Amino acid sequence: MEQNRRIIVTPALPYANGPVHIGHIFEHLICDFFARFQKMRGHESLLICGDDTHGTPIMLKASAKGISPQELIKQVYSDHLSDFQSMGVSYDNYSSTDTQSNQELCEYFYNTLKKQGFTAIKAVEQYYCLHDKMFLPDRYITGTCPKCLSEDQHGDNCEKCGASYQPGEMPQVKCSLCKNAPEKRSSEHLFIKLEGFRDFLENWLKTGTTPQIKNKMAEWLSGDLKDWDISRDEPYFGFAIPDMPGKYFYVWLDAPMGYIASTKEWCAKNGRDLKEFWGKNENTEIYHVVGKDIAYFHCLFWPAVLSASQFKTPTKVIVHGYLNQGGEKMSKSRGIGFGPKDYVKHFDPTYLRYYLACKYNGGVDDVDFTAEDFVARVNSDLIGKITNIASRGATMLAKHFENRLGTLDAEGHAHLNYGVSLGDEIATHFDNFEFAKGMLLIRNIADLANKYFDDYTPWKLVKTDPDKAHIVLTTIVNAFRIIAIYLKPIIPTYTEKVESLLNEPKPYTWNDSKTPIENKNLNTYSHLLGRIEAKELDAMITTNIESKKIALEPKKQNKNDKPETKSATITIDDFTKIDLRVGKIIEAADVPGADKLLQLKIDIGTEVRQVFSGIKSSYQPADVLGKLVVLVANLAPRKMKFGNSEGMILASGEGTEIKLASVSDGAKVGDKIS
Ligand code: MSP
Ligand code: ZN
Repeated sequence: MEQNRRIIVTPALPYANGPVHIGHIFEHLICDFFARFQKMRGHESLLICGDDTHGTPIMLKASAKGISPQELIKQVYSDHLSDFQSMGVSYDNYSSTDTQSNQELCEYFYNTLKKQGFTAIKAVEQYYCLHDKMFLPDRYITGTCPKCLSEDQHGDNCEKCGASYQPGEMPQVKCSLCKNAPEKRSSEHLFIKLEGFRDFLENWLKTGTTPQIKNKMAEWLSGDLKDWDISRDEPYFGFAIPDMPGKYFYVWLDAPMGYIASTKEWCAKNGRDLKEFWGKNENTEIYHVVGKDIAYFHCLFWPAVLSASQFKTPTKVIVHGYLNQGGEKMSKSRGIGFGPKDYVKHFDPTYLRYYLACKYNGGVDDVDFTAEDFVARVNSDLIGKITNIASRGATMLAKHFENRLGTLDAEGHAHLNYGVSLGDEIATHFDNFEFAKGMLLIRNIADLANKYFDDYTPWKLVKTDPDKAHIVLTTIVNAFRIIAIYLKPIIPTYTEKVESLLNEPKPYTWNDSKTPIENKNLNTYSHLLGRIEAKELDAMITTNIESKKIALEPKKQNKNDKPETKSATITIDDFTKIDLRVGKIIEAADVPGADKLLQLKIDIGTEVRQVFSGIKSSYQPADVLGKLVVLVANLAPRKMKFGNSEGMILASGEGTEIKLASVSDGAKVGDKIS
């Protein structure tokens, strides 16, 4: 058994200038899965968060609403928290950065950095709006693009030609608030000299983040580390810099300190010492889960600032991509996607939690939410594959055996051992934020249980050999129980229903999967979870579209995406040219040096073909051995670096979600498919 660990996990602190959207929910769910999983493993794990409340946008928004910034952030706070909680996110503490204890931390860090010579004061020239009486952050400046001369472009990049630049390079600038021309003014700013942290950062990077981000960071580190401006001029909603009248700490200085301040609040409520969690020499693990847009802040500034203090630096910054809908980043302000409020009006959070766990593998690639995919994954996997095991097993047990479990035989134990033996592997994936990999293994357990059920046809067996039928049903219920235990961090309310159905004396912990239940009465089966109706999903998306007036025009092209090509139709004659055959995989092996490919030998009756197939992310050689597949038999052979590929097997999906096209029962090797 692993030693007990002490773990803190945090999503980024959401800005208090607007409601949260499903993209935020995605990030908080990743953290919730992780924190719940660690708790189930017996570790001390805290899910810590809070609202990020300072900065110019919040100040301006409050003034536009005619309320104080404090009043605004108070309203937003309840709204954020209830949205997250409605999706089942369970924080140990949810605070705000606008607290006295965060201010004290901020001053402590400032003084510490200053004492060690890491700060500098320099004059900065910036645009100042005489009308609004403030220096203008880039986002409040519009002007003429210096490259293509289009008018009314942002202060840092042009939407027309894509150029990026500094506001100072624009031939004509305006204040986007009042449309007047601002003037240039000089003002003193406080900087952190990042170059002084180079050695520390190079070292921290070795373990501090995920491989893709590590490379990105190495690029940043290979250039000059520019001093970081951490001050803003008044008027500003934030913390005043103690020895610089009229100056405030930039929101990005006090925001990450909110992680510590929120933990401190938890400690005060629970009689614990903050040092146990954030002390430099403690064994605590600290994980920050953030989107790729703010990796820079979390992998450079934040560890640097922490390293100069008595606090611990992050164990790992997990950087995820955006959750997109139909290829576009979800964003309320641009009217893309549905919000948590729309979602919970129509659906149980269990569905989205399950779905997103199947989609996230700890990497920085964007994740696409599509309606079809969502419905398919929930209905065919969570309901069809998993929940059906319980409904079929428990219903039969109630009908024929007075709802009482019998005993397992040796074969039943052996069957269950498959699920038990995967427990450590699933745990390792969850521990690495590789939820999709863990979910795939859980589905494999369900596949085997379904096969066992179907092979035994207990509905027939109960008439001929009721004792064996009782054993089979007892085994099935136990197999389902193992699945429900592993799914608990992902879909806790579902598993709680299972705990009550199976009459469990206490909530599941991870290791309960190892001890099957026998000879006990179950509670009456009540519906665990139903299928998603596609029309309910349509209703959610349509109402959302109508209420937000989203134009249903084709989405703007994403810069990095390949252009969408509309597939041309083919004639029936074209189609019949394709020779599809049923083949059997008789050999399967990894291909050294190719992480996506498996080398397969496929028997198609008349001959054996060698095929290199890109299914490795979802199938290990052992998974496919002996499987019947559909082979495109008349595809011209392709010479690859590893050898010839003589045909192609049909599969759907991508990434870690590839599924081989299945062949119907009774099909034989060599059958032609038409
Ligand atoms: N307030 C800062 C974070 C301070 S942390 C000390 C901030 N707030 S935010 O509200 O703009 O974003 C919060 C998090 O949500 C970020 O990690 C951001 O990457 C993430 N996401 C915002 N839109 C997203 C998607 N569409 N998809 C996934 N995550 C997204 O940045
Ligand atoms: Zn102005």
